[in-house]
Amino acid sequence: KKTSIGKSHAKVILMGEHSVVYGQPAISLPLPDITFTATVEERLAGQIIFTPTYQGPFSSLAEGYEGIRQLVNRLLINFNALKQPFTLRLRSDIPQERGMGSSAASATAIIRAFYDFFDTPLDAKTLQKWTAIEERITHGSPSGLDAATVSSDAPIWFIKHEVTQPFSLNLNGVIVLADTGIKGQTGLAVSVVRSLLEENPQDAKQHIHTLGILATEAQTALQTNDLQNLGRLMNQAQQELTALEVSHPQLDVLIEAANQAGALGAKLTGGGIGGTMLALAPNMEVANRIITALETAGANEVWTQTYPTF
Ligand code: MEV
Repeated sequence: KKTSIGKSHAKVILMGEHSVVYGQPAISLPLPDITFTATVEERLAGQIIFTPTYQGPFSSLAEGYEGIRQLVNRLLINFNALKQPFTLRLRSDIPQERGMGSSAASATAIIRAFYDFFDTPLDAKTLQKWTAIEERITHGSPSGLDAATVSSDAPIWFIKHEVTQPFSLNLNGVIVLADTGIKGQTGLAVSVVRSLLEENPQDAKQHIHTLGILATEAQTALQTNDLQNLGRLMNQAQQELTALEVSHPQLDVLIEAANQAGALGAKLTGGGIGGTMLALAPNMEVANRIITALETAGANEVWTQTYPTF
């Protein structure tokens, strides 16, 4: 019985969420320790063609299910295998609807598993094309940033419709991530920004433009290990995102707590209106203080990530 495994991981957007949808650059970082695994297992016979099982946070496929179902269907058409009986097992460490890329990660792992199952090589461009099918169903009009990052081992410099650029970074600090415990709603947040652009185009365009400049400056800060400046840029980005109405009172509480505890900067990450925030700490000692402050302020779950190898 043939078994194929596909893997991917979570991601975090450092700079450029929302503005990336309108052509501004964004920087995202892989979270290699928070993984998603898809296993396709051949069944020798039987009427059940597609049996997905899911194990992970919230223990259901939740709203991602329709995107996954359609993705699998199109993959099977592509491989001329609609009658192929199989079991699909999904194992996730990535919380859903927290801005950590769980839906793009599930698609990426599934696509990798099926390409392996049908003994077909898979290049990055093809992978991203397939992931976009699922992301369009789950999120409406995704920029492709999530898809690019959950399949990359390196940080990503991303501009919509342009070739994705992995880049090397020199980041001596610690990224601290905290979940508000409130469902982030990427689709809703993207439409809030779209409405603002319709109602007050001049203002909204200015915020989006500024977020692009902040992302560009952050790339320089990352490559030169200028943590102070990076933190300052993150704080400015949070102000711009607040002006675009995609923050949330509980995000604001956690961001304030992190900054009080010694963070160099803090902001929401991903879609916002709930979901996750990230803070930058100069070292592990301060990171631990920030973690305590975040937990006291009501964070649901906290992660840290360092990048020694890029
Ligand atoms: C969501 O993780 C990031 C957004 O910029 C939407 C997108 O890029 O598609 C809010």
